[in-house]
Amino acid sequence: MPSWIAAGKARTRQSAQADFVWSLPRIDSPALPSVPDHTSAGAAYASGPRLNPSPAPRLNRPAGFVYIAPMSTNALDLLKSGTVPLYLAPQAGVSESPFRRLCRAFGADVVVSEFVSAEGIRRHDRRTHSYLRFHDDERPIGIQIFGAEPDAMAEAARLVQEVYEPDFLDINFGCPVKKVVNRNGGSGCLRDLDLVQSIIRAVKGAISIPTTVKIRSGFTEDTRDPVGIALRCQDAGAEVLTLHARTRTQMYGGHANWDEIAAVKAALDIPVIGNGDVWTGEDARRMHDHTRCDGIMMARGSHGAPWLFSQARAALEGRPVPPDPDAAERFRIVIEHARLAIAWEDDEEKSMVEFRKHLGWYTKGLPNGRLLRQELFSVTRLDEAERLLEGYLSQYEQVAA
Ligand SMILES: Cc1cc2nc3c(=O)[nH]c(=O)nc-3n(C[C@H](O)[C@H](O)[C@H](O)COP(=O)(O)O)c2cc1C
Repeated sequence: MPSWIAAGKARTRQSAQADFVWSLPRIDSPALPSVPDHTSAGAAYASGPRLNPSPAPRLNRPAGFVYIAPMSTNALDLLKSGTVPLYLAPQAGVSESPFRRLCRAFGADVVVSEFVSAEGIRRHDRRTHSYLRFHDDERPIGIQIFGAEPDAMAEAARLVQEVYEPDFLDINFGCPVKKVVNRNGGSGCLRDLDLVQSIIRAVKGAISIPTTVKIRSGFTEDTRDPVGIALRCQDAGAEVLTLHARTRTQMYGGHANWDEIAAVKAALDIPVIGNGDVWTGEDARRMHDHTRCDGIMMARGSHGAPWLFSQARAALEGRPVPPDPDAAERFRIVIEHARLAIAWEDDEEKSMVEFRKHLGWYTKGLPNGRLLRQELFSVTRLDEAERLLEGYLSQYEQVAA
């Protein structure tokens, strides 16, 4: 193994302790803060997670976004506890460490890395390995890998466990992208359930952390069989199963079929996580009521809205769902997110170029936001983005005054 892999790991651990400490309340902490009345909209901002040391501004969650995340590094325990943990979905180019940390701070109980190529891991490809890094405060975290060759997947899984020590290893059987599917990876595996089982057995045999899987309902409509696929995964040793209730052919179109999540939950003994079309806190409650799933995974609904997790928790607990933060609060959050991204990449220009999509998402739906977004899409520095957002706010304050 090249020495830079071990060195990178040591650096990550160090910086996790030195640079950032989210002040996430711990459920087992004796200094547990009391939960303010979340219905008091407009009340002073409740103190939330923040960065240390102080050059970075405090990240205050808006009133109502106070949530005590169950802190357990064992995602399996959480799933079996009946608390219905909320998962940030694996998302290539989105669920990177800065966003994962932000979502954890807003109440995501478990996060999963974007999918990482088993081949790239085995080849010790530097770029691939950069996707495997995470901060300790993201735990519980799963690393998701994809590939079509059982031995290669086992070797990659072993390496991931040994070097990065995530809490679980997730296998991607859902990616619909042609380049991946053509090589039988991701949802391509669903065309051969013997292969699916071989991969699960090989990976499970190579690691001691839990092996989990994420599937779609099938490859095509004709072969749609979520319960059959899920049972094969369970038989091969998968310890948790996430179902994105669409076929590969559907890509992201149509609707996720929540009846299928309910059927899989009823058929399996292992915990089942429901995924697909949870856009609001209320959606999370509806999915749980409809399917009785053990956990809920959210992807696109979290774009530019990490507070979705807080809203979903409130809805699941039968509390009023806090409203979306106003523009000023959103902007504070997006700047905090950008600071995390820059610190993570250590390259402001590269980070800000990659961050433009988030700037677009956070400003979606704002009155006259189109012009603002056009300008944000050309920023290369954080202070440029800050100036644009401040300018937008002061214009609106003037109009309102
Ligand atoms: C930008 C993007 C990237 C994604 N990358 C991954 C991935 O790396 N691994 C994976 O299993 N699913 C990936 N997905 C699928 C999501 O995890 C999720 O299954 C899907 O978006 C449905 O959930 P949603 O309706 O909450 O968005 C991705 C989705 C999006 C939108």
